Amino acid sequence: MKNTLIFAHRGASKLAPENTMPAFELAQASGAEGIETDVQLTKDNIPVLIHDENLRRTTNGTGFVQDYTYDELSRLDAGSWFSSEFSNTPIVTLDEFLRWFKEQKMLLNIELKTNVIEYKHIESIVYENLKNRQVLDRTVISSFNADSLVRMHEINPAVRTAFLTSTNRRDLVKYAQSFGANDLHVKHRILDKKLVKQCHRQNMDLRVYTVNRTGMMKKCYKLGVDAIFTDVPHEALEHRELFQKRKG
Ligand code: G3P
Ligand code: MG
Repeated sequence: MKNTLIFAHRGASKLAPENTMPAFELAQASGAEGIETDVQLTKDNIPVLIHDENLRRTTNGTGFVQDYTYDELSRLDAGSWFSSEFSNTPIVTLDEFLRWFKEQKMLLNIELKTNVIEYKHIESIVYENLKNRQVLDRTVISSFNADSLVRMHEINPAVRTAFLTSTNRRDLVKYAQSFGANDLHVKHRILDKKLVKQCHRQNMDLRVYTVNRTGMMKKCYKLGVDAIFTDVPHEALEHRELFQKRKG
């Protein structure tokens, strides 16, 4: 059985404000194999790393990301909501992040946040960014919106895509394959042995979010899921080591 890989969910988001450079740097320092991050588009079509469509929760701004230019957004504080230690941490663009990421020996999961707002051309904009920074070969692109994955494959069928879902259905693996998804990213609640088997039979990777509790980490390791997304990569790595020792 292969090792379950650890992806830092929005970076090491328990230790630093989610989707900011400090969170990504801490993820790298923790020894996690991968980083998951969320992409939305500004008014002037700059991809930025932020989970919510609205600025309220994670910045000192108000309103929607899509209604501001990047220049306007770059003046916001995306750290103080988390802790004063991170005050004035800016929202980062995908390209700024990739300039750093390119030098790291890590995997990447870009989640296109197109399930609420269908940002026009987000797929081609993100694709060009990843291509320019030469990280496509270690990136998987995911979305809750199947149309986004179809558009990504139209741009380049070689791009690895994953369908994201929190709801189970009997034919989930077939359903994901019907729009060309290579892999499946599921909420921990719907994980079971059968799903792991079905994915692996179809050569799909199964990755599970968001795994922060020890019990669920152990379940994922035991079932041999391909990767987990966690806010606490340092803890997930510790538990994985213990699990391997006990097994070994
Ligand atoms: O990509 C896995 C996970 O991040 C999906 O949900 O809402 O945390 O972006 P969310
Ligand atoms: Mg996400």
